[in-house]
Amino acid sequence: MSLFPSVRLRRTRQNEKLRALVRETRLSVEQLIYPLFVAEGIKEPLPIESMPGVNQWPVEALDTVAEQVVQAGIPAVLLFGIPAHKDEVGSEAYAEQGIIQQAIRRLKAIQPELLVITDVCLCEYTSHGHCGVVKNGTVQNDESLVLLARMAVSHAEAGADIVAPSDMMDGRVEALRHALDEHGFSGLPIMAYSVKYASGFYGPFREAAESAPQFGDRRSYQMDPANVREALREVELDVAEGADMIMVKPALAYMDVIRRVRENYDLPLVAYNVSGEYSMVKAAAQNGWIDEKQIVMEIMTGLRRAGADMIITYHALDIARWLRP
Ligand code: PBG
Repeated sequence: MSLFPSVRLRRTRQNEKLRALVRETRLSVEQLIYPLFVAEGIKEPLPIESMPGVNQWPVEALDTVAEQVVQAGIPAVLLFGIPAHKDEVGSEAYAEQGIIQQAIRRLKAIQPELLVITDVCLCEYTSHGHCGVVKNGTVQNDESLVLLARMAVSHAEAGADIVAPSDMMDGRVEALRHALDEHGFSGLPIMAYSVKYASGFYGPFREAAESAPQFGDRRSYQMDPANVREALREVELDVAEGADMIMVKPALAYMDVIRRVRENYDLPLVAYNVSGEYSMVKAAAQNGWIDEKQIVMEIMTGLRRAGADMIITYHALDIARWLRP
């Protein structure tokens, strides 16, 4: 008997060719979705201070960023709108000339092949900043469903390829599916933000989208970070209601949730690498404390390994560049 090991895992780690042969997880640019903020009433791209490298875009300037996204090989964008006027019921969210409706038409005209996914939620459009209709200080579930369904239909009419409800009202997938079908959009997929936690990681997004709640917080509709069995119930309902893709959000502190959902459901699974996750990496990289490329690629690989099929990330343009041979 030898003192030395006969099984040696280092044998397949000797060089990059060998490592690539035995690699278990791959990341491709085709799995990335790039979020875009479109704002009314600005003339030039407006940098978002807490998210270095990310801008609010005027509709007129979308051509440049859409061109970059397409050139990078990124298949899809996720749109968020920042209207000039907000009101109690988020009227601009479902207005025919609303900021998002204009953005969708523009993008589909200039880059018809680029998939346009739209975030369906009222928080960017309401004066109180909550994701639904507020009465007596509480967010009304069923009244909100009516408006969210209208919003999804108006996105579909403008030419959206996929709608993505992120409001966390009960029954919204069914409400959207029903309304879309009734208006002739039975072929339009729903990407449901099924498992969306009430998270501090959305902080920079709320600056970017000007959508912070004006009173209280979102814990009466978004999930408690402590729960995972409840996450499976959320997914179960969305699947039963007709979701075509399901999502876990945020991503990094919730990799176990991604894994659990992956093991329990066969639907395409999306991970949202959210604003706070992006800003932390950017801030550390700008200070020279971490290697940005290495860290970002490790995060993306981790999300794929946990079970995500697709990743929504503000790093998408950089990743596309790094993935190029
Ligand atoms: C709601 C919405 C939010 C995000 C995506 N859709 C914010 C929230 O629920 O408060 C957050 C995305 C991110 O942080 O990158 N419209």
